[in-house]
Amino acid sequence: MSRRGMSDQTRRTLLAAPTLAAALGLARGSTALAAARPTPPRADYGFTPGLTYLNTASLGPTPRPIRDLMDEAWNELETNPVYETYGDGPLNLRADAARAQLAALLGCAADDLLVTRSTTDAMNTLALGMRLGPGDRVLTTDQEHEGAVYGWDHLARHGVAVDVIPIGPKDLDPAAIVRRFEAACTPATRVISVSQVITTTGHLMPVAEIAALARARGIFCAVDGAQALGQLPVDVKAIGCQAYAAPGHKWLMGPKGTGFLYLSPDALDRAQPVQLEAGHRFISNSAGTGCLPLAIGLGAAAEALRQRGPANVRARVLALRRQAYEGLAAIPGLTPESAEDGAMITAMVAFHLPPAIDANDLRQALRLKHQVIIKKVEPRWFNGIRLSPHIFNDEADVDRALWAIRREAVGG
Ligand SMILES: Cc1ncc(COP(=O)(O)O)c(C=O)c1O
Repeated sequence: MSRRGMSDQTRRTLLAAPTLAAALGLARGSTALAAARPTPPRADYGFTPGLTYLNTASLGPTPRPIRDLMDEAWNELETNPVYETYGDGPLNLRADAARAQLAALLGCAADDLLVTRSTTDAMNTLALGMRLGPGDRVLTTDQEHEGAVYGWDHLARHGVAVDVIPIGPKDLDPAAIVRRFEAACTPATRVISVSQVITTTGHLMPVAEIAALARARGIFCAVDGAQALGQLPVDVKAIGCQAYAAPGHKWLMGPKGTGFLYLSPDALDRAQPVQLEAGHRFISNSAGTGCLPLAIGLGAAAEALRQRGPANVRARVLALRRQAYEGLAAIPGLTPESAEDGAMITAMVAFHLPPAIDANDLRQALRLKHQVIIKKVEPRWFNGIRLSPHIFNDEADVDRALWAIRREAVGG
């Protein structure tokens, strides 16, 4: 998947719009064109018949056109592995164009993007590429997913201090949250690392304001967008962060085992998160030989979302989320962890269970007896459940889940 052998001219030609479409196989009538269809019909998802899937925040489904596109790519790859994969090989060119598709979605340049295997991989790569040492401090929150903190914790074993701001479910004033970050910055703070959408509550953090305060102090701002990209509009330049990490396999509904790291060009003196190969800063999609069909699927998922319109997605998932919130709030014994409304809500909604109901037992009963898939909140947070409807869900899905939760929780 390397750019080795691809001349700058080839690259420019490839990324020119009409040629890009051709390189991606977006010719009229091809399966690839179907992959870009904005909102695939329900039948295009591969769910077990009867399954009600409300857990995209853990792992999203990949619609059939994108899976077909990847199958086709895999078959093409095997027709002549070496020819297809390296240099100007046809599949290699298509895989490399995936970064252009992601870039078009995110509002950045293709060369600002490093394709990774996951958000965790992106955040680890970033942390290990930062020039930090003893005496330096990283500022983060107590609400981060572990995937975003492994890297900082690793640096902490080598003398870097990690400061943690507590963010509670009732922290719903974005300006107050920004002030909390401001107050916690020290002259030694080098990095602020924060989720755009909190993994448990789904609350939307004021990342643009946090990035602005970081920038004003010369602090590097890294945003974990795992729960944001695909359910709401993301423009990395508008956020103004130096780094942004996200997966392909959640709200983007791309292939499992994909993600990316965005790094703003002005951050290069601070971070060198390389996948080393032939002296390139960011090689196209992997260090050494990578999985071209996955990269092609990731690009197609980004393009499908761009055509679908992230603002349309946000409006739709918020409607489903309201239905879920109101239904859960009406079940005796359940109490909300997520906000009812306001600027910080997203598609995700989390509720506490009464102590008599174990979240894991409830999750199992929902799956085994009702074919309803929801997330059990990790016990270290609280005894509760999280629902995360996406565009392939409808009101009937939410109703089915609510009916099953009520039945298992209160027996009626
Ligand atoms: C906020 C957040 N960051 C990171 C991750 C880890 O994502 P990945 O599996 O892509 O590494 C998750 C997964 O749920 C998450 O919610």
